[in-house]
Parts: sequence; C-alpha cells; structure tokens
Amino acid sequence: MGRTLHDMVVVITGASAGIGKALAEELHRYGAKLVLSARRTDRLEELNRALGGKHLCVQADVSKRADCEELIATSLAHFGRIDTLVCNAGFGLYIPVAETSPEDVRRLFETNVYGTTDCIHAAVPHMRLQEKRDEYRGQIMIVSSAAARRTPPYLGIYGATKAAQLMLAEAMRVELRDSKIAVTSVHPIMTKTEFGQVAESQSAVKMPSSRRAGSQSVEHVARRMVAAIERPVPEVWPSRPSRWALSLATLVPKTTDRLLRKLRQKVQRQNAGNDA
Ligand SMILES: NC(=O)c1ccc[n+]([C@@H]2O[C@H](COP(=O)([O-])OP(=O)(O)OC[C@H]3O[C@@H](n4cnc5c(N)ncnc54)[C@H](OP(=O)(O)O)[C@@H]3O)[C@@H](O)[C@H]2O)c1
Repeated sequence: MGRTLHDMVVVITGASAGIGKALAEELHRYGAKLVLSARRTDRLEELNRALGGKHLCVQADVSKRADCEELIATSLAHFGRIDTLVCNAGFGLYIPVAETSPEDVRRLFETNVYGTTDCIHAAVPHMRLQEKRDEYRGQIMIVSSAAARRTPPYLGIYGATKAAQLMLAEAMRVELRDSKIAVTSVHPIMTKTEFGQVAESQSAVKMPSSRRAGSQSVEHVARRMVAAIERPVPEVWPSRPSRWALSLATLVPKTTDRLLRKLRQKVQRQNAGNDA
C-alpha cells in the first residue's frame, strides 16, 4: 500500500520555478497540503493563488541557516507535521573548476549542500517524534542530479554539490530506516527550467544549445517525484538511459573522459574569444 497523498504535508524548497513549481502543481492535484518556499515570494503567492490559495508560502533563502530553521518551524506550527521535505532549491554555474572563485565555490555549497543539510537538521528530530502515517513517520527527498554520478566539464563545482547530496541521501537512507523515515534522491538531467538562464547570467561560459534545450519536461520529472512520494524508493532517475549510461561511465573513466573532451572542444569553439 502506498502513502495517501491527500492531506499529506509536503514542504518544497525552490517552489517558485522549474521542478519545484511543477511538483507543487502535481501534488496539489492529489490534495496534498503544501509549504511553498523560495526567495521570490511574489512568485510563490502567484502560484498559491493559481492553486486556490490554501497552501502556505514561506520566504526562505536556504543558504542561510536561520531561514532553514524558520521554514521548518513555521511549517510545523501551521500544519503540525511534515510528511515529506523536498530539498530542491539549487543553482549551477558554468565555469572550469580551477577558475571558479573561492567565493563562488562557497556560494554553490551554501545553497545546494548546506541548504539541504540545514533543512534536514531542523526537520528530522520532529519527524522522528511524529505518529506514523501509512507506515512512515516522514520522508526526505533530495533533488540532486544525474551529474552526481559523472560531472561534465564546466559543471565541476556544481557536480560536486550534487554528488555531496547523493552521499547524504545514501547514508541517511540507512541511518533513518529504523525511524521509518524514507530517504529518496532525485536525478534529473537536462530538464527545461530556468536553471540554464540562471547559470548563464552568472557565468562567462555559454553551454551548447543541446545542453540548454532540455530533453525532459518538468511535468515528467514532477510525476516521477510524486510516484516516489507515494511509494518511497531510494533513487528517482526520470531518464532511465541516463542512469545506465552514467553508471557505466563510472566503470570506464578513460573512455568517458574522451567523450567529454569532445563536449569541451565544442564549448571552446562556441565560446571562441571567451577564454573558455
Ligand atoms: N534543470 C535541470 O536540467 C536539472 C538537472 C539536474 C538537477 N537539477 C536540480 O533541480 C533543482 C531545481 O532546479 P530547476 O532546474 O527547477 O531550476 P530553476 O527553474 O532555476 O529553479 C530553481 C529554484 O530554486 C530556488 N532557489 C535558488 N537558490 C535559492 C536559495 N538560495 N534559497 C531558496 N531558494 C533558492 C529558486 O527560487 P528563488 O530564486 O525564488 O529563490 C527556484 O525556485 C536544483 O537543485 C537543480 O540543481 C536541475
């Protein structure tokens, strides 16, 4: 038997755009009670209005620990429990590793990794004390990336944050099992969202259009996430071929390097004059 989505309380970070917004829309269809969180509250309020206005909007910059703690406290005060915490807020930069400033490295880790651990640290003690609902006390869902398994050039620091998220999920899945808290990592690839625009607006490098175009819809990713909220699984890979290809890539690093050098050359050609 799966978990009942109706009246389930789901906290979503990064709900103002892309995957987080699509997830909110999909969960709303099943009658879940949502906490919509991000920095842009106008976007959250607009989304909530479009969904009938019964959800809770909470402004939070997940790179700030106090905001993460406040988000969890406000969610619990309003709904009394958290059935699933979706750590989705994140961004990337297109920069070679050695050229990434120490400030940008920290910025990426503060949002993508510490934003995840700070929300988890605030939420899990409460989840442990909750009554079980459909066999589970709660669930932590972390939106990592396909890049967690093998990162392409120009996404090295971003990939490091996504690999860190995967490791957190793998360890926690075992640690929290006896507490009946499920842990699921999500591994999208090339999904059509604002991710590319946000990355390019802060990066000197432009990635080839095939990487930016997006091969997965947010609706597809959101449907796969909802299925894993209803019936928790360890990992969600919205593109099955990417799961196989990237798992194989870890076994043949030299061949994978050769393939990825071609991508690097393409990026260099497209950015000629940009010192890519
Ligand atoms: N799109 C892809 O191809 C892809 C592939 C693999 C993994 N992912 C992952 O999927 C997740 C969602 O990304 P997306 O593709 O949906 O990108 P997006 O459309 O740019 O959405 C990113 C969301 O994160 C929020 N966010 C960013 N920094 C934040 C911060 N410091 N505090 C709170 N919220 C913050 C943004 O809201 P505000 O700006 O309003 O705060 C926005 O709601 C990310 O973790 C990303 O790494 C995406």
